[in-house]
Amino acid sequence: MKKVFVFLLFTIYCSLFTVVHAADYPDIAPLPERKAPNPKAVELGKALFFDARVSGDAALSCATCHNSEQGFTTRMPLSDAYPGSKHWRNAPTLLNIVYKGKTYGWDGRLDDLDDMLRDMITDSMNMNMDMQIMQERFKQDPKIVQMTKDAYGDKNMGTSQKGEMTHYVARNAIVQFLETLTSKNVPFDKGNLSPKAKDGMALFKGKAGCIQCHNGPYFSDNKPHNTGVPENQEVFKDPQRHFTYVAYMMFMGVDNRMNWRRDVGYYTISKDRKDVGKFITPTLRELKYTSPYMHNGMFATLDDVIEFYNMGGGEDRPGMKDTAMKPLGLSASEKEALKEFLLSLSGDPITIDMPKGVKVEYQPIPKWKEVKN
Ligand code: HEC
Ligand code: HEC
Repeated sequence: MKKVFVFLLFTIYCSLFTVVHAADYPDIAPLPERKAPNPKAVELGKALFFDARVSGDAALSCATCHNSEQGFTTRMPLSDAYPGSKHWRNAPTLLNIVYKGKTYGWDGRLDDLDDMLRDMITDSMNMNMDMQIMQERFKQDPKIVQMTKDAYGDKNMGTSQKGEMTHYVARNAIVQFLETLTSKNVPFDKGNLSPKAKDGMALFKGKAGCIQCHNGPYFSDNKPHNTGVPENQEVFKDPQRHFTYVAYMMFMGVDNRMNWRRDVGYYTISKDRKDVGKFITPTLRELKYTSPYMHNGMFATLDDVIEFYNMGGGEDRPGMKDTAMKPLGLSASEKEALKEFLLSLSGDPITIDMPKGVKVEYQPIPKWKEVKN
């Protein structure tokens, strides 16, 4: 009888609090070394990243929404979008994006970085650009043509001539530039944690259970989870944001799209009701520079995020939230320690010198089809 009672108490304890076995998950670890990218391609990619000619009406560059001075995101809860539309999601950071490997976008709609860039460029709410037009714009700029020859002159990139500017080469160069946006001097990676941050790491792997989803060197399992982040009502109050979201759902074939009053997240991809409200676990690296947080920017500070997890996450219909989301019972000093650990995952600020002399005004070349470039 006594044994049964103890067992019952244990079961109740386990269902109230998470008992986490860190060894069940890929361990958190320093970022592995990567092969250095081709410096000439990086120069070209950097120029293109800051060049507004990539967008249809030359109003936006990648850097407009992934701002190098704001952790390669923006400090706004919800992102900018192509003129005439407004985005319904937060622009994620591009720092360490080359480590992500798959499930790009908050809803994980694409598994390949090049495909994600193609979407960024062609989606009507992002840059609204036609790939052929982009290619032609750059082919008509002698400086870009020269940079492309310098970077790709000796490589076969599936083009008719080596060193030719094509939209594929443009995206490849941007990816090479993204290779340079990796963390530098991160206390965690250097094994240089304060005693308080070490306590925080123990909580992360144990009582707080963060490692269940934020694991491996990128601090993400790359899987969708519902944590119950509250909706950002701005998406539904602002008609421009709302119709941009509805248009996206239409494009993705989501049913009942006029009636959803929430971001359905991974449901967009799987069309399985149990996936409504799931989002791909983001990295926890460089959080110092990337507030506000979550897919809709609902939390302004790390204190808000930690409080949210301490409460067991947000509200959703029964059975929708991830079973890992339970009240954590963290004391004030434990919350501080956890925050200190999260901050130890940020390194030196990564700032980029804007390429000089990006020329947006240019003269089209007469009879361009006949001109060799
Ligand atoms: C108008 C704003 C805007 C512009 C311009 C823009 N992005 Fe984005 N980007 C976003 C938003 C918002 C998301 C999140 C989209 C989603 O989850 O649905 C995103 C997502 C991404 C992702 C996926 C990140 C992740 O963690 O999964 C990559 C990579 C990316 N953008 C790269 C670029 C590049 C490179 C350019 C330029 C070619 C660019 N973006 C231009 C707003 C923008
Ligand atoms: C059940 C899986 C899961 C667990 C457990 C979990 N997270 Fe998360 N985390 C997520 C997901 C998914 C998101 C994105 C949610 C969204 O945007 O709606 C997220 C977002 C975050 C963000 C925001 C990052 C950004 O760039 O916007 C922080 C910070 C964070 N989590 C910290 C933690 C901490 C600290 C813990 C432990 C107390 C923890 N997480 C536990 C899955 C999890």
